[in-house]
Amino acid sequence: MKILFIGDIVGKTGRAAVKTVLPVLFKREKIDYTIANCENLAHGNGITEDTIKEMRECGINCFTSGNHIFDKKAALDFIEDYPDVLRPLNYPPMVPGNSYRIERLPENKTLLITNLLGRAFMPPVDCPFRALERLLEEKKADYIFVDFHGEATAEKAAFANYFDGRVDVVVGTHTHIQTADERELPGGTLFITDVGMCGASDSIIGVKKEAAIKRMITSLPQRFEPAGGDWWFCGVVVNLFDRERSIKRIFFKSKKEFEEWRLKN
Ligand SMILES: [Fe+2]
Ligand SMILES: [Fe+2]
Repeated sequence: MKILFIGDIVGKTGRAAVKTVLPVLFKREKIDYTIANCENLAHGNGITEDTIKEMRECGINCFTSGNHIFDKKAALDFIEDYPDVLRPLNYPPMVPGNSYRIERLPENKTLLITNLLGRAFMPPVDCPFRALERLLEEKKADYIFVDFHGEATAEKAAFANYFDGRVDVVVGTHTHIQTADERELPGGTLFITDVGMCGASDSIIGVKKEAAIKRMITSLPQRFEPAGGDWWFCGVVVNLFDRERSIKRIFFKSKKEFEEWRLKN
């Protein structure tokens, strides 16, 4: 069972990266199931029905999200029509949308996918630890995959280690910068602090640099726009076959780097 997880896809540039890389990656890595974080899919903020459909057509089977999922308010009305689009599990219960998905896989195996928000340097939400404890009491599956969407590296590591051995995978998202600490924890959980993003390479975490810098130096609010041009593609390939469990980082820092890899592999 090989799962590809794609980090936060930021706007049109991120979607272009996904469209270019996925057909090649699917063939080279023999991917069985693909999950992507969609919180920045539509012009950097939230989702639209069209952008979700566009990414489904590329072969993405399930979408996790985060604090930006409802930036476009229309998502509040349509999210329940998209059972493959998950909102964080630890939002208050009245927030619409599914927060986990159980997929039936070949050989009668099941995969549970869920998504939680961190609370360190993030808007307040319910406790992610207790939220996942409750879900694990109620739902069972052969494989459990968690996207923990948070700012603080320590919170992500604490979360992954707390659930070590009880879930198969914890991938961190939200910072848009990939960390080089992918590993198997002592209890067997595969973990990376942050997968990174798919988005413009000449940017500040996917958005145009000028506005991001102006906000830093003036403390005034700015309108953030996703940047264009060349891109990054960030993901991980998780292998859950019993004897070969592993987590491997994928990071193409430009179209050229991807093209070189494609020709070599
Ligand atoms: Fe994001
Ligand atoms: Fe986020």
